[in-house]
Amino acid sequence: MSDQAESTNKSFYITTPIFYVNDVPHIGHAYTEVAVDTLARWHRQSGEDTWLLTGTDEHGQKIERTAAANGVGPKEWADKLVEEAWKPLLKTVDIANDDFIRTTDERHEVAVAKFLQQLYDDGHIYEGVYEGYYCVGCEEYKQLDDLEIPTDGEFAGQYVCKIHSRPVEILAEKNYFFRMSDFGQALLNLYEEQPDFVQPESVRNEIIQFVKQGLEDLSISRSSFDWGIKVPWDPSHVVYVWFDALLNYVTAIGWGSDNDAFRRRWPAVHIVGKDIARFHAVIWPAMLMAAGLPVPARVFGHGWLLVGGEKMSKSKLTGIAPEQITDVFGSDAFRYYFLSAITFGQDGSFSWEDLSARYQAELANGFGNLGSRVIAMVQKYRDGRVPDAPLDPAITELEKTVTDAAHASIGKLAIHDAISSIATLVDALNLYVTVNQPWVLAKDSAQASRLDTVLATLVHGIGTLAVLFSPVMPKATATLWAALGEGGAVTDVRVDRAWDRPGGGTVSTLEPLFPRIELEPNSA
Ligand code: MSP
Repeated sequence: MSDQAESTNKSFYITTPIFYVNDVPHIGHAYTEVAVDTLARWHRQSGEDTWLLTGTDEHGQKIERTAAANGVGPKEWADKLVEEAWKPLLKTVDIANDDFIRTTDERHEVAVAKFLQQLYDDGHIYEGVYEGYYCVGCEEYKQLDDLEIPTDGEFAGQYVCKIHSRPVEILAEKNYFFRMSDFGQALLNLYEEQPDFVQPESVRNEIIQFVKQGLEDLSISRSSFDWGIKVPWDPSHVVYVWFDALLNYVTAIGWGSDNDAFRRRWPAVHIVGKDIARFHAVIWPAMLMAAGLPVPARVFGHGWLLVGGEKMSKSKLTGIAPEQITDVFGSDAFRYYFLSAITFGQDGSFSWEDLSARYQAELANGFGNLGSRVIAMVQKYRDGRVPDAPLDPAITELEKTVTDAAHASIGKLAIHDAISSIATLVDALNLYVTVNQPWVLAKDSAQASRLDTVLATLVHGIGTLAVLFSPVMPKATATLWAALGEGGAVTDVRVDRAWDRPGGGTVSTLEPLFPRIELEPNSA
């Protein structure tokens, strides 16, 4: 086995949230997917036994009502949205997931009932009465702090949810409760002992504040509607949709059915939007503690894509469909843009002008043009054969430094920093072309060996770029790699040792990786 193919035997399990099927995806959902996919591809290409789980959240009142409004049953509605919208999203933005779980899968429903029964048998669940406000958009019971009373507009004078800007409902019903309050201190200890358990820092502080105020027990069943998993000891109740949904992370990898498989993968790194970090960093670890299972490895709350300063959302009619962007710019540019332009963990605003400007400067004129130019020079001056010459140590050193920096950034989930590091190599290679002027060297036969070195160094550097960028832009880098002629697939090269290759080969013509795009005036 070559060094490059060696496996590290480390396992890496990463998840996206599972998406509500009440509506079709927008670019905010696609953003979560591409971030997780890029991290997964990087780890996979670092030789780790990687598993990426994504899927759909199909129970609850929100889905039931949407289906009814469309004149179909909830399962029929979910089937349609999964097949026509959510699975196609994965193709649209080029996600290499290992599994796709639906909360209506039998494997999930059976394991959820088993988990609940275990908690009930162990005394973590009791019967009580819930009275309070409920937001169907969030599928969450609300405190007064989470609500506001608008003074004008359609809902003037009513309590509305701050996230959905829609009225909450008043609920009073007999429910089963999870004794979450038992776990307050254990959770605070967890945040203290494992400071990177919840990230980024802003989300961590908010969560700690929340838990310090004291945890209430959590209502985990509903009896006023029946689109959900039945509570095993009382089928007049269905399981609260978040309790059901969070369990997908363990039911998908075999909890309750294949414990060896479960133990091999668990715990997970959960990447979620910051709006749902609380469910993942408070309720979820408390549920796991109650069941005697290890808590997740990490919970990272990323920022929101904003439109007009507000969270992009279909319910507020600001959603942009991912295909609107990928049809014009392609999936690689979509991935690159959102992951490089936004600091992972902070909010970011999308604009067509910004996307178009960065596409042109960084991809078309930057990375893409560098590849085409260098390949054309090897064809022109060396008949396409990459010279077997010593490489310029300044550039090979930089390849190594950039690789290490990018790898370290990915370990910290700082995807934007990893991309900035890689971009320094693009700039350095462009500068290297300008400084060395291969077209001048080519005119002087006394400079033949210098030209060999310059060309070999450039091809090697671009090969390193192809490897490093492959988790971000899988398609363009595969094309570039094939044109460089080094052989094999770019994904066979270890990304954490991207520079560590013999090089050489015969190049072939490369069509522009990122062709010029004229935006129609009205799409901006
Ligand atoms: N079904 C729950 C998650 C259950 S996980 C056990 C849910 N679904 S969702 O479809 O509403 O949202 C899924 C993810 O998309 C969340 O991480 C959410 O933060 C993210 N986004 C939704 N709108 C977004 C933006 N405008 N910007 C970035 N991410 C956004 O919540």
